[in-house]
Amino acid sequence: MADEMILHNIGKLITFPGEGPVPGGSMNEPLIIEDAAVTIGEGKITGVGPGKDIWDQADLSKDAECIDCNGKCVVPGFVDPHTHLVFGGSREFELGMKLGGASYLDILNAGGGILRTMKDTRALTVEQLVEQMDRRMNKMMIYGTTTVEIKSGYGLDVDTELRLLEAIGASNHPMDRVATFLGPHAIPPEYRYDPDGFLDLMISMLPQISRSGLAEYADIFCERNVFDLEQSRRFLTAAKEAGLKLKIHSDEIANLGGTSMGAELGAVSADHLLVSNDKDLEAMRKNGTIPVLLPGTLMTIFEDRIPRAIEMMEMGLPVALATDLNPNCMVESLQLIQALACYRLRMTPNQVLAATTANSAAAIGMGDRKGRIKEGYDADILILKEGSFDHVVYNFGVNHVDTVIKGGNVINRDIGW
Ligand code: NIG
Ligand code: FE
Repeated sequence: MADEMILHNIGKLITFPGEGPVPGGSMNEPLIIEDAAVTIGEGKITGVGPGKDIWDQADLSKDAECIDCNGKCVVPGFVDPHTHLVFGGSREFELGMKLGGASYLDILNAGGGILRTMKDTRALTVEQLVEQMDRRMNKMMIYGTTTVEIKSGYGLDVDTELRLLEAIGASNHPMDRVATFLGPHAIPPEYRYDPDGFLDLMISMLPQISRSGLAEYADIFCERNVFDLEQSRRFLTAAKEAGLKLKIHSDEIANLGGTSMGAELGAVSADHLLVSNDKDLEAMRKNGTIPVLLPGTLMTIFEDRIPRAIEMMEMGLPVALATDLNPNCMVESLQLIQALACYRLRMTPNQVLAATTANSAAAIGMGDRKGRIKEGYDADILILKEGSFDHVVYNFGVNHVDTVIKGGNVINRDIGW
C-alpha cells in the first residue's frame, strides 16, 4: 500500500468549512470545490483544492497511488455516533408483536426487547462477539461509515458488560471505534425488585472502566419504567466524577427531564429527543450538547411523530444523525438514515451531510480530526457513484458508495460507474 495517494478528477468535493460542530444555521452551507483533488500522506489529508492547484503544489513520490474519481462526487467518510452493534441473537419475531399492537415498552416489560437480547448476549465469548461485530461493521463500511460509536448494554451484569467493552477494543477491524458504557440500559431480572441495587452495581464499575480505557463515554436509558430522572442523574454524576464523558438516551417515549439534566451535567450529546420540550432544546444550546436524532428507530417503533429537527437547527443546534443500530432497529446503512432524515424530518441533503459527518464526529468528540475533508484530518473519504450528494438522499435503499478510503487505504472499490 502506497504511503501517498492523490484523488484527482473529482467532479464535486463537498465538505464543511471550519472545525468542530457545524451550527444549525450553517448546515445548509457546505464548502463545495468543483474539479477538485485531494492528496493524502501517512493516513492524513495533506492537501485539498482545485485539481490544477493541487497538481502544481503536490510533491508526490513516484510510487504514490493515483485514483481517478471519474468526475464523481467525493464526501467525508460517514460517522455513526450512536450504535448498539455488539450483541447476540436477533429479534425479527418481535415484528409480529409490534404489528399486532404491542408497544416497545410493552415488549420490554414482558421480558422481551433488551432483556431477550441480554440472554442471547450473555451466552457469547469475546471472540464470538467480535466475529458478529466485525460482520456488522463490514456492512456499515461498504455503505460509507468509517467511524462508529458502540455501546455496551446487553450484558447487564459485571462480567458480560466488561466482555462487551473488551470486544469493542479487541476487534482488528479498520473501522475507528469509540466505546460507551451503557450498563444501565434496562433492569435485569435478578434486580427486578431492586433497581437501585443494580444501579449501584453499575456505578461501582465506573472507576475501573475509566482507568482501563475500556470506554470513553457513559450513557443511561432515562425512560418511563426503565431509569428515572434521579437515577439517571446519580449514574451520570458518578460517571463524570470517574472521568468519563457523558451521553444520555432521553425523551424517546416519555419526557422525564433527562435531556435538560444531561445537558446541565455537560453531556456531549443527548440522543432520541422525540418528545423534548423548549426548555430541553435551550439547555442543549446553552451547554453545547449535541442533539443526535435517530429516524430509523422512529420507524421501527411505529412512531408517527417526528423530533423537532428544523426548530433545533433554526436555534443553532448542530443536529447529528445516527443509525441506532440494535436488534430493534436493524440497520447498518447510514445512507438509509440520510434518506429518512430528509423525507421524514425534512432536512435538506446538505443538512443531512453535515449531520452524518462533521456534527456526528463532534457528537463523539472527534470533530477536530474526522468528518471533514480538510488538511490535517484523517483520510477517511468516500468516492460516490454519482455526481451529487443530493442523488444519494433522493434515490434511497441502494448503495451509492463506490470507493471507501479509510486512513489513507482503499478498503473497498466497486467501480460500478
Ligand atoms: O436506543 N432505547 C434504548 N435502547 C435502544 C434499543 C435497544 C433495544 O431495543 O435492543 C435504542 O433504541
Ligand atoms: Fe440507542
